[in-house]
This record gives sequence, C-alpha cells and structure tokens, in this order.
Amino acid sequence: MLARLEAHVAEQRRFAANASHELRTPLAISKTLLDLARTDPTCDTGEIIDRLHTVNTRAIDLTEALLLLSRADQRAFIRVPVDLSLLAEEATETLLPLAERNGVTIETSGDVTPTIGSQALLLQLTMNLVHNAIVHNPPEHGTVWVHTGVRPRSVVLTVENTGERLTPQLVSTLTEPFRRGTERIRTDHAGVGLGLAIVKTITRAHDGTLTLTPRPAGGIRITVELPAAARLT
Ligand SMILES: Nc1ncnc2c1ncn2[C@@H]1O[C@H](COP(=O)(O)OP(=O)(O)OP(=O)(O)O)[C@@H](O)[C@H]1O
Ligand SMILES: [Mg+2]
Repeated sequence: MLARLEAHVAEQRRFAANASHELRTPLAISKTLLDLARTDPTCDTGEIIDRLHTVNTRAIDLTEALLLLSRADQRAFIRVPVDLSLLAEEATETLLPLAERNGVTIETSGDVTPTIGSQALLLQLTMNLVHNAIVHNPPEHGTVWVHTGVRPRSVVLTVENTGERLTPQLVSTLTEPFRRGTERIRTDHAGVGLGLAIVKTITRAHDGTLTLTPRPAGGIRITVELPAAARLT
C-alpha cells in the first residue's frame, strides 16, 4: 500500500516536471523570436510572426490537452447514455480529410454499442485513437479499422492500424504522458505526446480497460472496453 502510494507520488512529480518542461519550450522559443525581432532590424518580420503563431498554437494545444487530462481525471462529468458506434462514425467523418491527405483508408464496422458516460470525453477518446491510427501509419497505403461491438457485459471500441512492427515492451510505454513512441516511424505529425494518456484517463474515469497490442504484421490494435449500458437503462 505504502509502496503504491510512493510510486503514485513519484509519478505525479515526474508528470509535473515533464509538463513544466514541455510548457517552457514554446515560451522560450517565443522569447528568442521576440528578442530577434527587437534587436535585428534586418530580420524578416513576416516570418517571425508565422513562427510565433506556430509556437503559440502548440502552447495552446498543450495547455488544452493538460486541462482535458485533469478534467477527465476528476471524473467531474455527467453520465448519459452514449452509442459508441455513433461516436466512431463522427470521429471517422471528421478525420476523413486528414486520412485522405495521408493516403490512409478507414474501414468502420459495428452496430449500436450502448454505454454510459460523457459524450464529449468519449468522442475525444475516439478522436485521439483514430487520429493516432492515421498519423502514426506509413505514408501511403495505410489502413485503419474502427470497430465497435457488444460483449455479454461490456462494450468495446477497437481501433487498429497498419504500420511498423513494434515490440510489446515499447507498446506498453506509449500511454505514459509525453511519450512519443519510436523515432523510426517517419511522421510529419509533431504531437505533444498526451493523446494516449488522455485516452487512458478517460477510459479509467469510465471504469473501463485499455489494451494495446502490437499487430503481428505491424501497427497496433487498441481496445477500449467499457461497461455496457443495458443494466443501467
Ligand atoms: N495507432 C498507433 N500506431 C503506431 N504508433 C502509435 C499509435 N498511437 C500512438 N503511437 C505512438 O505512441 C506515441 C504516443 O501517442 P500519443 O497519442 O500519446 O502522442 P502523440 O500522437 O505523439 O501526440 P498528441 O498528444 O498530439 O496525440 C506516438 O508518438 C506514436 O509514436
Ligand atoms: Mg496522438
């Protein structure tokens, strides 16, 4: 019990240190750019504004991800009946243009999949998983499968994608905050490394389980299992 408490405190400390470090980076870059604009009369102001805009957007994304993480962790949300298959449909539709740009095909399947929870958080969870499955996929000819299904006492959302072969050891670390996977995967997507940590926290807040498994042919299969709504409605 004491060991678990100590591990939890150590984890919180690590998280706070990492979050501060991640937030400091865009602020430090902004300062450098502002100093440059102030001291170098020959600098290209238009370019500096563009770079400041990019850095600022990244800082906002990071802060929003941190807020979302803490909101989900506090379980401060209203629980309503939610159909996971509709969320899967919505996430896929929203992310279809991104998939097309990346040459990735998305296949969805599954019938009505009722659970109870926060519609907004479960949509965020689905979006994060589908977004990852698109951007962390080999460029061109990648495939993503999104499936929702009902089990006797639970419901499942499975998001699977093609990609590089990954070891179970590496896959087991990917839900840690600020973990950005393998350097070997070529990706233009410079994420903040909180997408899967958010998925994990939202799943836990809904009393569910999250499983990440490397696919033998490459890529990952991610399963979110949540309590079925039937017994509550
Ligand atoms: N579906 C996937 N297939 C292959 N690798 C993945 C997949 N999902 C996540 N990863 C790996 O896990 C890492 C962590 O994912 P996570 O979603 O937490 O962060 P991110 O995508 O890098 O940034 P963001 O916070 O913007 O989502 C990724 O950088 C990537 O290397
Ligand atoms: Mg991500």
